[in-house]
Amino acid sequence: MSKAQAVFVCQSCGMTHTKWAGQCSGCLSWNTLVQESFSAPPGSLKPETSPSKISRLSKLNFETLDAPDEAPQRMVTGIEEFDRVCGGGIVPGSAILLAGDPGVGKSTLLLQVTAHAALRGLKVAYISGEEAVEQVRGRASRMGVSKAPVDLAAETSLRTILDALKRDTYDLVIIDSIQTLWSDAIDAAQGSVSQVRACAGELVRLAKKNRIAMILVGHVTKEGQIAGPRVVEHMVDAVLSFEGERGYPFRILRGSKNRFGATDEIGVFEMGDGGLREVPNPSALFLGDNDERSSGSAVFAGIEGSRPVLVEIQALVAPSALGTPRRAVVGWDSGRLAMILAVLESRCGLGFGGKDVYLNVAGGLKINEPAADLAAAMALVSALLDQPLPKASVIFGEISLSGEVRGVSRMEARMKEALKLGFSNAIAPVAAQDNAPFEVKTYSHLVNAMSAFDLQC
Ligand code: TYD
Ligand code: MG
Repeated sequence: MSKAQAVFVCQSCGMTHTKWAGQCSGCLSWNTLVQESFSAPPGSLKPETSPSKISRLSKLNFETLDAPDEAPQRMVTGIEEFDRVCGGGIVPGSAILLAGDPGVGKSTLLLQVTAHAALRGLKVAYISGEEAVEQVRGRASRMGVSKAPVDLAAETSLRTILDALKRDTYDLVIIDSIQTLWSDAIDAAQGSVSQVRACAGELVRLAKKNRIAMILVGHVTKEGQIAGPRVVEHMVDAVLSFEGERGYPFRILRGSKNRFGATDEIGVFEMGDGGLREVPNPSALFLGDNDERSSGSAVFAGIEGSRPVLVEIQALVAPSALGTPRRAVVGWDSGRLAMILAVLESRCGLGFGGKDVYLNVAGGLKINEPAADLAAAMALVSALLDQPLPKASVIFGEISLSGEVRGVSRMEARMKEALKLGFSNAIAPVAAQDNAPFEVKTYSHLVNAMSAFDLQC
């Protein structure tokens, strides 16, 4: 056996160092370097040495290639919310990383995906490094999919897994999770960056070579400490994250990298006793059942991926007992809240000084669009004045630092979704007037929008 070479690997970003240091020079995190050692990969894990075949793009004859020249063919799993986030189905031979906090429901989602895919005739294997086969079967029967022809294995040795996958021809393989695998070629602890990187590298290589779609599950911790998935992100074709707020049953699947589709799509699921249920119309979910909205509540007409989604934004303004008033925000950017408050104070003359301000996006959704500015501002003013907003209104529009209300993308689609859900008017930028399906109160400046409250600014 060749001599193992000691290296120090940052557990946060994966950078390798020859000497130990208190701080990683790559990502500047402290105390993340851990000694690991590489030894020469024995036996089957040796890199292949056959020369690469190089072809001229213009000379390639597409009819003779596996992949056609246009859109790649896709395997539809039947879980529509999942297929859409993947870009319309899983591309054969692609590698996908599904990342998420422990307990969010990654295993549940993938068991459901594999079961549905198997029932549609795909050959699938679910390899669990975390649960015994009986546990996976128990979960499948609770979810009512125990009859699906899925091949199950509880295995953590990379070598055994690779051998098994080479023996059979699978369309789709799930590895749950990449942190539990270990390769005997690497002298490092299970879950360490070196192990995760080596195992993911081998699996992705097999996926490409044998045209197996491979989904790797990766846990991320809040601190990003065991950041195995970070190093895997570069190796895979798509990175999906599964998110959910604690205490809410809703789970959101979001694409953050996708070589075969858009990255801004979301899939919405609801966790229940029988596993995850798809939510094809998320607007109804994020709005709640309350028809009569109280002060501080505004309905934002947003766009998530290709779909319009209506979300309730709630604000509370209360006198503060603290020297520095509290600003708390859930589901939105706190920097953006500070900006909106500053615009309301300096351009509209409204005083939030000495008051605690809370902003919450209902249903556990996270909004990233600047189009939510106007809705957040209206919710804040409504809470400050203790006056509800006009009934059955949706709000959207971006606010500039000067207080100008700007147009946003896909305004007609936003209003059409609102109309479908029983809303009859909108508070919006001037440009929304064109093709509006109902009455729209348009404003060019935030000061003018205050007239929605019968207020002199
Ligand atoms: P799991 O898929 O094991 O999470 P992960 O793989 O991301 O760690 O999901 C675990 C949670 O899901 C657990 O808290 C229980 C909940 N759950 C349900 O509420 N209903 C169900 O039918 C299942 C299978 C799980
Ligand atoms: Mg799991």
